[in-house]
Amino acid sequence: LTSDLLGAVDAAATLDALDAVRVTALGKQGSITALLKTLGGMSPEERQVQGPLIQGVRESVTTAIAAKKDALDRAELDAKLARETLDMSLPAAAAPVGSIHPVSQVMDELAEIFADLGFAVATGPEIETQWYNFTALNMPATHPARAMHDTFYLQTPTHDTRHPHLRVVEEARVLRTHTSPVQIRAMQAAGGDKPIRIIAPGRTYRSDSDATHTPMFHQVEGLVIDKGITLGHLKWTLETFLKAFFERDDIVLRLRPSYFPFTEPSAEVDVGFSIVNGKRVIGGSEGWMEVLGSGMVHRVVLESGGYDPNEWQGFAFGCGIDRLAMLKYGMDDLRAFFDGDARWLKHYGFSA
Ligand code: PHE
Repeated sequence: LTSDLLGAVDAAATLDALDAVRVTALGKQGSITALLKTLGGMSPEERQVQGPLIQGVRESVTTAIAAKKDALDRAELDAKLARETLDMSLPAAAAPVGSIHPVSQVMDELAEIFADLGFAVATGPEIETQWYNFTALNMPATHPARAMHDTFYLQTPTHDTRHPHLRVVEEARVLRTHTSPVQIRAMQAAGGDKPIRIIAPGRTYRSDSDATHTPMFHQVEGLVIDKGITLGHLKWTLETFLKAFFERDDIVLRLRPSYFPFTEPSAEVDVGFSIVNGKRVIGGSEGWMEVLGSGMVHRVVLESGGYDPNEWQGFAFGCGIDRLAMLKYGMDDLRAFFDGDARWLKHYGFSA
C-alpha cells in the first residue's frame, strides 16, 4: 500500500491530481483512514504491532504529499515567472502627451515678435476697479461707452446711491472688459518720466456669447509712450507686427477713422485678405477685415497715468488674441477654444 500511494504521489503532475491522491489516502473514505479504523477492533498486542506500522505509512504518505506539493508550487511559480518575463528592449507604448493651446501659442508668438521691437510684457489684474477700467481711460460715469461694454459687475455698489447717474464708486470691482487698464498701470509703474514700450496680453470679460464671442476672451494691449511719437510710428509698428505674425510680406493695412474714448485720433485697423479655396486668408487685398483698434493716447489718459500731455505722446492698440489665432490657424468657431476637446486641438495640429 505504501509504495502504491507513494507512486501515485510521485505521478501526480498537478496540484489537483495531488489533492485527489490525498483524498484517496487520507480522506474520510481514504485507504489509510480505513486502516486506522481497524485499530479499534484489534487486541492490545496486535494493536501494539500494527499501530506504529499504520502510523508510519500515514506519516510517510503525508510527508511525501507535502514535499510533492512544495515541488509543484515551485514549478508553477517558475512557469509563471517565465511566462511574465518582460522584454526590456521593447519600446514603451506611447503615453498621451499634452500640447500648447493655440491661445498660449499666439501669446508666446506676440511676446517674441514685440520683444524684437523692444517691447516688454506687462500684466494687470483681471478683477479691476471701475476707475482703472473706465474712468482713468476717459470714460466717466455718464459716458455711453461704459454701457456698451456689457460689463460683469461684481457684487459691490457701483454707484453712489444718492446720485446714481453721476457718481460711480471708483473702487467698485468689475471683471476688466479690455486690457486697456494695463495702460494706466504701466504708466503709473514707470513714474511719469520714462518712455514706455509694453504689450499686455491677458484674459478679458464681457457678457456676450455666440460663435464669435465668448464671455471670457483674450486681448493684447500695446502701449508706447515717448516724446515725439506720431501716428506714423503706430502704423509702422502694426504693419511690422502683422507681417511677422502672419509670416507674409503682402500684408496691407487700412486705418479707418473711428472713436475710442481713450485715444484721439482713433483708428480701426483693417487688414487685407484673399479668398483661397473658399476661405479667407490674410494677405492680399480682395477684401478687408477689422483686426484691431488703435489711436494716439488721449491727453486725459496720459494725465491719469501721471504723464504730462504737453511733453509726452503715445500710441496704443488693442487686439483680440483669439481672433488672431482663428485667422492664423483657420479655425472658425471661437467657442471651441474653451471646450477643452483634445480632438479639436489635434485637428488643428496642436497635439502630438
Ligand atoms: N480697448 C479697446 C477695445 O477693447 C481696444 C483699443 C485699445 C482701442 C487701445 C484703442 C486703443 O475694444
